[in-house]
Amino acid sequence: MPNNNNEMLPKIGEHLLYDRFMDIARNRITTRQFDPDFKVPSAHYELILEAARHAPSGANAQPWHFIIVREQAVKQQIADYFVEEQRFRASLKMKFPTPDYSGLANAPGFIVVASDFRYVKAFPVLPDDQSDLNKMYIENAERILLQSVAAATMSAHLAAAALGYNVWWVTAIGQQKAQDAMKPLLGIPDELSILDIFCFGPPRKPVYKRWKKTAHEITNWDRFNPDNFISNEELDNWIRKKRHKVMYKDANKIN
Ligand SMILES: Cc1cc2nc3c(=O)[nH]c(=O)nc-3n(C[C@H](O)[C@H](O)[C@H](O)COP(=O)(O)O)c2cc1C
Repeated sequence: MPNNNNEMLPKIGEHLLYDRFMDIARNRITTRQFDPDFKVPSAHYELILEAARHAPSGANAQPWHFIIVREQAVKQQIADYFVEEQRFRASLKMKFPTPDYSGLANAPGFIVVASDFRYVKAFPVLPDDQSDLNKMYIENAERILLQSVAAATMSAHLAAAALGYNVWWVTAIGQQKAQDAMKPLLGIPDELSILDIFCFGPPRKPVYKRWKKTAHEITNWDRFNPDNFISNEELDNWIRKKRHKVMYKDANKIN
């Protein structure tokens, strides 16, 4: 029996499309340096955003906007902002291994993902209520909103991977300073916030698969498996000793 009366969908349990999907999911790989000479055809942007358009969202609010950036000067200004922010963070001694954001300027595919936080009130919250109780609901609503935009963004990333591209998900831009620096460049209204930048293109040098947790480590049947819990100390250790390696270096060397 076909699912949903849709002849295009596989029969339950059939692996053919699953295996092809996994080729895409497995090979969605980040690069931070792209081939600067490649030009993305407009049709590819349309194919990628067609995938984003079908994403699920809380209350089906679809609280997202995608701004395709084609002008080199604008890409350069955004890259400059990130490089500057990266220097600032280094001066704060945040100890986060920030990547080299100069690669943003050369990203052939460049999409800024913006969200409309006014949609928070479309989720389960008490209207016009400043109480602590409502703060809890608002916090939950913000999570719904962020998850919704992430769902659409991920669909776009997978579509780009399905078209053969490498991708780069950049979200270093929550703070007001970043919003103020970038929104005017793109004519984004005050009410919206930039959440992510999605870059894609052919990589400048060969990419490598990064470390992923094993299925066992993330899967829990019926109850949370205590073996999968890490202590605060183990987490601090991971941050200190492994984080930079799994972000930038071949996982095989650290396992
Ligand atoms: C929500 C999210 C935020 C991210 N933010 C950044 C970022 O600000 N800068 C960056 O260089 N990479 C960022 N990344 C990319 C991750 O570093 C990358 O996905 C991770 O190292 C795993 O590598 P892979 O994508 O090749 O599997 C982000 C990814 C996600 C999903």
